[in-house]
Amino acid sequence: MKTRADLIQEAKKNAALEAVKHVKDGFIVGLGSGTTVAFAIEALGERIKSENLKIMGIPSSYQAFQLAVQYGIQLTTLDEHPLIDVTIDGADQITPKLYLIKGMGAALAREKIVAAASKYNIIIADESKRVNVLGENNQVVPIEVLPFALSLVKSKIMVLGGIPVVREGKGKLGPIVTDNGNVIIDANFGLIQNPQDLAIKVKMIPGVVETGFFTGLTDIAYIATESKVEKIQK
Ligand code: A5P
Repeated sequence: MKTRADLIQEAKKNAALEAVKHVKDGFIVGLGSGTTVAFAIEALGERIKSENLKIMGIPSSYQAFQLAVQYGIQLTTLDEHPLIDVTIDGADQITPKLYLIKGMGAALAREKIVAAASKYNIIIADESKRVNVLGENNQVVPIEVLPFALSLVKSKIMVLGGIPVVREGKGKLGPIVTDNGNVIIDANFGLIQNPQDLAIKVKMIPGVVETGFFTGLTDIAYIATESKVEKIQK
C-alpha cells in the first residue's frame, strides 16, 4: 500500500517528466533547486544517455550542481551563456496567476537570476503547492539578507506588517548560511493580496539581497498528482 509520501513523490516525478519534454538538443537549461527538480535533473540525465541529447546546464544551487554532475549533465555558466533556453524549477506556493513563493530550500537568489536570464520558465510541483492567495496556510516568504543588515531588515519587515524569523540550520547551531554566504529571514505576512507591491517594498530595504516572490517570471506550471498533470499557462 502506497503512503501519502509515496504519492507525493510520484506527483513530483510526473510534473518533472512533463517539463523535461520541453528540452531540445543544443539547449542551455537552467536547473532549479529542490526535491521536485531533482526528478527533472535525473530525467534529463536519462535522455542524455538514451537519446544522446546534447545540453548544457546552469545550476541555481550547490544541490543542483551536485545532481547535474551525478546525472552527467555538462555544466556551463551565465558568463559563457547569458541567455538560457529553458529553466525548470520548483515552488513552495503557486497561484492561478502564476505568482510564486520560492526559497524554502534557501536557493532563491540564484534561482531568480537564472529565471530572469531564461527565455522560458517552467515550474513543476505537486498539487499541495497550489493556493489561491500567496501566504495561505501560514506560508512564510523567504528573504535572503546580508548578515550585517539582519537587525535593520527585521525591523523594516515588521513595519511592513511581517513577522520575521531568522532560519536556523538543522544539524548546525545558528542560522543557515546560503550558497552566497548570506542568511535567510522567513517572514510571515499573512495573506498577501498584492505580492508585486510587497516584493518591491521588501526588495528596497537595504541589505535585502533577494525575496522569494516570483511574479511575472513563469510561463508554464505543471502541477501534478500521482495520476494526472495539469498545465497552467500565463
Ligand atoms: C529552493 O530554494 C526553492 O525555491 C525550491 O524550488 C522550492 O522550495 C521547492 O522545493 P521542493 O521541490 O523540494 O518542494
